[in-house]
Amino acid sequence: MVYGEMNRDELTSEKKRLSEQYDAYLGEGLKLDLSRGKPAADQLDLSMDLLNRPLSPAECVVDGFDCRNYGCPWGLPSMRRFFSELLGIPSEQIIVGGNSSLALMYGTISRAMLFGLADSPAPWASVEKRKWLCPAPGYDRHFAITEKMGFELIPVDMTPTGPDMDQVEKLVLDPCVKGIWCVPKYSNPTGITYSDDTCRRLATMKTGAPDFTVMWDNAYAVHDLADGGDDLLNIFDLAVQAGTENRFFCFSSTSKITFPGGGVSILAASPANIELAKKYISVETIGFDKLNQLRHLRFLKDAEGVKVQMNRHKALLARKFRILEDTLERDLGGLGIAEWTHPKGGYFVSLDLPDGCAKRTYELAKAAGVTLTPAGATFPYGRDPRDRNLRLAPTCSSTAELGIAASILTVAVRLAAIEKLL
Ligand SMILES: Cc1ncc(COP(=O)(O)O)c(C=O)c1O
Repeated sequence: MVYGEMNRDELTSEKKRLSEQYDAYLGEGLKLDLSRGKPAADQLDLSMDLLNRPLSPAECVVDGFDCRNYGCPWGLPSMRRFFSELLGIPSEQIIVGGNSSLALMYGTISRAMLFGLADSPAPWASVEKRKWLCPAPGYDRHFAITEKMGFELIPVDMTPTGPDMDQVEKLVLDPCVKGIWCVPKYSNPTGITYSDDTCRRLATMKTGAPDFTVMWDNAYAVHDLADGGDDLLNIFDLAVQAGTENRFFCFSSTSKITFPGGGVSILAASPANIELAKKYISVETIGFDKLNQLRHLRFLKDAEGVKVQMNRHKALLARKFRILEDTLERDLGGLGIAEWTHPKGGYFVSLDLPDGCAKRTYELAKAAGVTLTPAGATFPYGRDPRDRNLRLAPTCSSTAELGIAASILTVAVRLAAIEKLL
């Protein structure tokens, strides 16, 4: 039964049937949420040992540094080695930050605005018509940073292999285009991982700006939902080969390994850009929280320890993604009105509807007690030109809530699609 092939009478009776279902939900006074891309409490419980193990004074000394005191501003050597092993980046090129990689991203762009980067002819603030590429659908907080810094946000289509590189390669020839946001693995929200070809093209493409910057936000580097997750090429290896090392700033954190807001973040870049970052960050802070680094080292230990921890997350998360995807398939499969992603990792499912249906679906779901990420949020300036994309976050609800929320969502989708067709 494809909605687009149904006649007016058939659509009207389908609408009546769905409206009855919808009205029943309205009466239930539900309060459900598919908007929060964060771990549920059972996932947070997995990391309680990080807090529960007392430390003796002697145990606070790591690599010769007393973690209770100032010093060692770029992170404990053991912590830098930990991330080096995890992400395949030389530890000398890593700065361990505080509890948020997003803050490191904001800081990187702020410093480029004020002082410039290793290859900058001038600080970015002096480029009046500065522009930034925003693969969309993408992460709203990324877009917000470059919007606040006065960049014109240029949308680039996301494809199953990453940003549309034909578009990117053309746009970057403009010297006013200073950079691009990338979530290369289990992208927020589409869940896709950049293909080898996309990575290579990002490393080798010609750019108009000598200081063109790729913000490589590897937030979901180890966040598989299934065995045999996706593989991502090592962008620094490619960049070194291409002679474009200064182009890449890489970020990651333990936010969704241990505690969001209570984890450890990193910034990695070329030797020249790391030196520059250190020069300015050392004015900003005497150092980040080494005690939290120590707690993380004791709890996670090494890449093997991270694997064990991520398998525990996977066991809790995979069920939720299955419930969401099964419900979408059960209720929307074959209707010709919806396409959604089947991520092998990360925190989101991206749902595409007929043009002009996302806002209406959001409103219908909201009135029936299901909060969704606002329609448009995944696009620059919060404007989805086709009003068709919704970001679904199944992780934070209980499995019981999720089943109901997903069912309400699919009723809302079908009603919005029929309204459009009628
Ligand atoms: C792509 C992406 N980057 C960064 C973050 C935030 O990371 P952090 O907690 O390290 O600031 C998120 C959180 O949802 C995210 O989805």
